[in-house]
Amino acid sequence: MVLEAIRYQLGSLHILNQLKLPHQTEYDEIKTSQDGWHAIKDMRTRGAPAIAIVAALSLAVELQNTKLSSNAEEVAAFITEKLDYLVTSRPTAVNLADAARKLKKIVDTASKQDVKDGESIVKAYCDSAAQMLISDVSDNQGIGKYGAEWIEKQAGSGKVSVLTHCNTGSLATAGYGTALGVIRSLHNNGTLQRAFCTETRPYNQGSRLTAFELVHDNIPATLITDSMASALLRLKGASERIAAIVVGADRVAANGDTANKIGTYQLAITARYHGVKFLVAAPRTTIDLETKSGADITIEERPGKEMTFMQGPRFDGVDVDVRNSETVSIAAKGIDVWNPAFDVTPAELIDGIITEIGVVEKGRDGLFDLTLAMEALN
Ligand code: MRU
Repeated sequence: MVLEAIRYQLGSLHILNQLKLPHQTEYDEIKTSQDGWHAIKDMRTRGAPAIAIVAALSLAVELQNTKLSSNAEEVAAFITEKLDYLVTSRPTAVNLADAARKLKKIVDTASKQDVKDGESIVKAYCDSAAQMLISDVSDNQGIGKYGAEWIEKQAGSGKVSVLTHCNTGSLATAGYGTALGVIRSLHNNGTLQRAFCTETRPYNQGSRLTAFELVHDNIPATLITDSMASALLRLKGASERIAAIVVGADRVAANGDTANKIGTYQLAITARYHGVKFLVAAPRTTIDLETKSGADITIEERPGKEMTFMQGPRFDGVDVDVRNSETVSIAAKGIDVWNPAFDVTPAELIDGIITEIGVVEKGRDGLFDLTLAMEALN
């Protein structure tokens, strides 16, 4: 089976329903931007790059299957309105807003050209949306290459073990993955001793999705609960000794502060305490120079039910819909719940930001200058 979160061809889009993994591999058809919005909101598709691509392509298939006006301005206004709507699905990952901004610009430029009609605007939009799916895979391969080289160089000779959090692999992107792409590259280079992945409560992206990908690719891997990370970093045995923690990102602010899956911040603290390198792997589309620091990032809060009820099929194999089911309660009824989906890791705890064109490190002043670094890397 090929690990494919997004299946797209002209006029047709299907997404792997990640609420059903690892027990069932079921693809849902996405016919409209509204379908796309709901798939993202319900987390049937998730991960910063995948969210952006599914949103863009959901509108592409809607445009391909709708009889639209031949008036270019009207079509451009329709696309802009739908993109603004799609951006409201989940607030923290910047990739979606970034994709919407770029697509609006394409549509705007196309509508100002001499030969302009509704059809040419739709074509310009759909070509760019489809290109995002292609570019994401090559970006991730670049991240994998630079990240693996950086870790291998830091570690010197011998094999390395790494710890990762959440799911940043083929299921969170168009393919290969960011932090999981680094693990794939280490494995392909023959330098990976073992990958450790956290369970990642409450949605369990680690145990359901990352573990699924690691088993699928035959990568030596061990699952731990989120609360075991510090104990793991303390181990001194050769195979368990962790050379680096590598995580993905939903938004990297201009100063390097990074929003990622809840639990990332505590991993960065324990990495610093134990002298383990802490790396963020993300495409440049996740770096948001408009956001000055982590304090300016909106953190999504999810329904308490995701914590108080068990997700997915029950142990007896009966399917349970986490959004509606009252049957698999795992918390005392009546308890208040706080369920932030992300946290912000301060830049001072991050040793490097791995992008598709190289690893950004801090300057002599101990600060990331991502504006300068993006120019220098270009
Ligand atoms: O809530 P999710 O599953 O969408 O959160 C995903 C993460 O936090 C990932 O680490 C991040 O989006 C990077 S995916 C390449």
